[in-house]
Amino acid sequence: MPIIEIKDVRKTFRTPQGHTLNAVDGISLSVERGETLGIIGESGSGKSTLGRLILRLHEADSGTILLEGEDIRSLSKRQLRKRRRSWQIVFQEPFASLNPRLTIRQIVEEPLIVAKQFGASEYRSKAERLRLVTSTLEEVGLSEDFLDRRPANLSGGQQQRVGIARCLVTDPSLVVLDEPTSSLDLTIRASILRMLAELQVSRGLTYVFISHDIDTVRHFCSRVAVMHRGQFVETGTTHQVLSNPQQPYTQKLMAAAMPPIPYSDSSTANASSAVNASSAANASSAAKAVSA
Ligand SMILES: Nc1ncnc2c1ncn2[C@@H]1O[C@H](COP(=O)(O)OP(=O)(O)OP(=O)(O)O)[C@@H](O)[C@H]1O
Ligand SMILES: [Mg+2]
Repeated sequence: MPIIEIKDVRKTFRTPQGHTLNAVDGISLSVERGETLGIIGESGSGKSTLGRLILRLHEADSGTILLEGEDIRSLSKRQLRKRRRSWQIVFQEPFASLNPRLTIRQIVEEPLIVAKQFGASEYRSKAERLRLVTSTLEEVGLSEDFLDRRPANLSGGQQQRVGIARCLVTDPSLVVLDEPTSSLDLTIRASILRMLAELQVSRGLTYVFISHDIDTVRHFCSRVAVMHRGQFVETGTTHQVLSNPQQPYTQKLMAAAMPPIPYSDSSTANASSAVNASSAANASSAAKAVSA
């Protein structure tokens, strides 16, 4: 049974001008347990909206969303909160997603307390919660010294490690990673991605990985879906989609994401690749540069 199975999901928003915007426009997909599905597409194509619909952080207008076989659109608010511990999200901006008034210990413990309130008796003991908080922080590379610190006193990379610990502490099966490293600089990005890959294996996680960065998706994802104006224009294995894109939109996205040509090779660069190189001045946001 796929861990995610969604059929013909739609979500519209009203623009301030009173128009209807089809943010997610009839998407169907299925994700197997242990897989990493990458979702790429330019800014505004609907990636985050889709990620939020999958976890019912947004309410879909129509369609079916099954997580581990459960129809989450039909769960009551209470049932949903009870199941929330299994289906988690990591956001792009770690600082904005962490409560600045709380200590790291309180931030990571909070999902356990919520789960306890919704019947998870294994989190009843305070000592057990502290043990889980400490061991999960250790898994993301943060020692006990961080327990009493607050988010403002941490680097961006450390804040995102806390965000990941908070998401993992309740032992989820599915994690949506919405551009988890795009606010971080390159070296930190690489170490966080390596850590996420290791955690996926050690914890048997399934990831939906939303990204602008095609190079990251190439290394991180087993399958890729290319999103454009609320729809999937191309899906397949990462190798199929990124090495031999069939759709003109994917080809444009790939062309804009070509890495800049090193200066030492500039004498051999031809005119067309020089154009690509200049359009990819900022490779990590290259997807944003593609015009519709
Ligand atoms: N809560 C909302 N209310 C109104 N419109 C919204 C809302 N959330 C998203 N949108 C609109 O829906 C469209 C898709 O937005 P979404 O954030 O899903 O795109 P995205 O692909 O994640 O973009 P980015 O790469 O910039 O994060 C955009 O046009 C956006 O302005
Ligand atoms: Mg987004």
